[in-house]
Amino acid sequence: MVISNDTIQYILGRSSIRAYQNKPLNKELIDLLKKSVLAAPTARNRQQLRYAFVTDQGIIEQIDERIFHYCDPEMKTIMEERNSSSFFYGAPLCVLITGKDTLWIDIDAGIAIQTLAIAAQSLGLSSVILGMPRLAFKKDDPKNCRALLEIGEDEKFCIAIAIGYADMTKAPHPHNHSLISDY
Ligand SMILES: Cc1cc2nc3c(=O)[nH]c(=O)nc-3n(C[C@H](O)[C@H](O)[C@H](O)COP(=O)(O)O)c2cc1C
Repeated sequence: MVISNDTIQYILGRSSIRAYQNKPLNKELIDLLKKSVLAAPTARNRQQLRYAFVTDQGIIEQIDERIFHYCDPEMKTIMEERNSSSFFYGAPLCVLITGKDTLWIDIDAGIAIQTLAIAAQSLGLSSVILGMPRLAFKKDDPKNCRALLEIGEDEKFCIAIAIGYADMTKAPHPHNHSLISDY
């Protein structure tokens, strides 16, 4: 018997989408995404992550400016090849996860971001996980974007995700079965 269900299909069907339609997400969708991320487990249930749900494109533009300021020429070429002037690829919703710099914070953030990716997939939306925005939140940059998202002195940017309606298609990456060992 082949066992399959919707959740498995959403996991298998997800891929990083780097072009979005100019179509906002309605409040019901955003509320479901908020509810989903709050259900993600955190080490010892400490819940030390904060989730900035950003729909204000003015904020995204300011973060983009700082990322472009720091990103290397190779990355700029990749962005040209992707035909995108934004590291958020025009998505109507971007969620940026920050948290106090503690032992498990990045693992907590990784779990939360994939929770959002699969929740988005299940709602008919697409996503791409984003590490590049870290460049906009450097503590030693006088023009950093930390104040924009009220990131505290003891907090760091962990990871982000762009979510929206896809304006492109991309097949999921091939699976490398050699990464798995059976004992
Ligand atoms: C931690 C992490 C950081 C990533 N950062 C970026 C990023 O800044 N920009 C981007 O376009 N994609 C980013 N990605 C997406 C990966 O490039 C993508 O997941 C990978 O190429 C596999 O493709 P797939 O997601 O379609 O399976 C990131 C993914 C992860 C897991």
